Amino acid sequence: MSSDYDLSTPIDPAATGLRQKLPGYGDAHFSLFMRKLFIKALGYSEDALSRPIVGVVNTYSAFNPCHANIPQLLDAVKRGVQLAGGLAIDFPTISLHESFASPTSMYLRNLMSMDTEEMIQAQPVDAVVLIGGCDKTTPAQLMGGISANKPIIHLVTGPMMPGSYQGVRIGACTDCRNNWAKFRAGTIDIEDISALNEELAPTGGTCGVMGTASTMACLLVALGVMPITGATAPAVSSARLRIAELTGTHAVQLAQTQLRPQTLLTRESFLNAITVLQAIGGSTNAIVHLLAIANRHPAIAGSITLATVDEVGRRTPLLVDLKPSGDNYMTDFHNAGGMPALLHELKPLLHLSAMTVTGRTLGDELNHTPFRPLPLHSPANCIRPFASPLYPASSLIVFTSGNLAPGGAVMKASASKDRALLTHRGRAVVFTSPADLAARIDDASLEVDASSVLILQNIGPVGNPGMPEAGLIPIPRKLAAQGVVDMLRISDGRMSGTAGGTIVLHVSPEAADPDSVLGIVRDGDVVVCDVEARHLAVELGDDEIAARKRDRADDQLRSEQNGSRWHARRTARGYRGLYMREVNQAQHGADFDFLTAAGPSHPPPVSD
Ligand code: FES
Ligand code: MG
Repeated sequence: MSSDYDLSTPIDPAATGLRQKLPGYGDAHFSLFMRKLFIKALGYSEDALSRPIVGVVNTYSAFNPCHANIPQLLDAVKRGVQLAGGLAIDFPTISLHESFASPTSMYLRNLMSMDTEEMIQAQPVDAVVLIGGCDKTTPAQLMGGISANKPIIHLVTGPMMPGSYQGVRIGACTDCRNNWAKFRAGTIDIEDISALNEELAPTGGTCGVMGTASTMACLLVALGVMPITGATAPAVSSARLRIAELTGTHAVQLAQTQLRPQTLLTRESFLNAITVLQAIGGSTNAIVHLLAIANRHPAIAGSITLATVDEVGRRTPLLVDLKPSGDNYMTDFHNAGGMPALLHELKPLLHLSAMTVTGRTLGDELNHTPFRPLPLHSPANCIRPFASPLYPASSLIVFTSGNLAPGGAVMKASASKDRALLTHRGRAVVFTSPADLAARIDDASLEVDASSVLILQNIGPVGNPGMPEAGLIPIPRKLAAQGVVDMLRISDGRMSGTAGGTIVLHVSPEAADPDSVLGIVRDGDVVVCDVEARHLAVELGDDEIAARKRDRADDQLRSEQNGSRWHARRTARGYRGLYMREVNQAQHGADFDFLTAAGPSHPPPVSD
């Protein structure tokens, strides 16, 4: 006989387990009675239902090869939960893969964060394991997890193995781009590119270089929301399954301690994450994600900015020799000791008192994690010693002066292929949209040379909803054929974390904004880029800029009925309309304003 139906004993509104978050039938005992009879339809006993409940977010999708191993991971997480005396119940949220999320996965990141937040809030879970991996999934899950503020722990699917072609190791997706560029330049043929297509992603798992997925995995460790060994084990390894089991056991502990993300995460956690981002030469996309994540946290929102990323960068050397900044793959990083080894090297720069999901500080975790570093000069060691880095500092830089990006812009300086371009002055060749770019970039009559500055407008958050990864503007074919491998390129969009080149991204405010200077740059204008001085400018006087803005506003007004993107925000329907009206600029994380901690406040759910 269950005491849950004793009408004389009120149900505690702060209850955990199955008694929390009861639906509003107006009679709490009846609501619990209904909930239990339905969950018993799944075969659960009263004993099972009396345990701490660990929700496990299942983002498996047959359209998502980066998440191909989730069924095995789920089994291992559930085993870990059971071993620690809890009950694991998995539930789905949407799943995003880079190539199967049109128009972009970034467009859907905020939707996934809302799905994750609301399902964590809605269901009677005491703690949650967030299984993600592909680029936008982990930031979406952490954004949602912080907002929901129930105890969370991350598990990533892990990187894929590298492949091989004609004796050369290859991997998604730096080598996808390098080889495609060679194919465009005519240095490899259609048979090579077809064969490469079979080998570039030889197993399930996330892209095997320091792209966004790998970067975010390392940042989750640095933030303290994933076990310290959780970032690098390959998707297909038994180590990955043991990490999943361990994650399950930690989740039960979290269910008991109720250590919530808004308590666990502090400003120091984010400074640690930025230090790691710089030391791994991480993806530029991770900057947007970190800003969005920080801005979900009521005590941190607004205090972690683009300037913080630059400041931390100035004292942080690039230590990890992985593509696209270096030469190796995630499996090499794992074999060299992975995140524990890197964090040991970075100790002088880290806030070791920052808390982690295990309930121990980062410093304690490092002291408790046995690892045997490779000899520093072993050829297999892709982690450089602090004293002899791959790049001295500022792998990722932020432009903070000049008239072209008053809200900021970023560049992965360490991935530049022609360092001379880091200080450059050249004439603009302007493309007004990706369609314009596609139509003209390979036109033999395009007036462009190696010193030109290629500018792509209107691929920002509102101008091209989802802010596509079109910032890697291709080298015009006629120049590529002459051996030009890099040019200064500038846009308000993003670039894949697996790509390289001298590329300015996330220009804010974006070109579609009536106030943007990027939006009024024309062919032939002189653009100046000085990475050392963090300066990005177009040589135009203030009067000329003001006049061009006025002309452009008139043009936009005239084209309002013809679908100007900026004006279309007001009337677009559905999720697209919500996105266009609510998305903020890259400098704030491209989140929806109403989801940020500083956004409109809404009353907490009644049972909180
Ligand atoms: Fe999923 Fe690269 S496509 S991590
Ligand atoms: Mg990517």
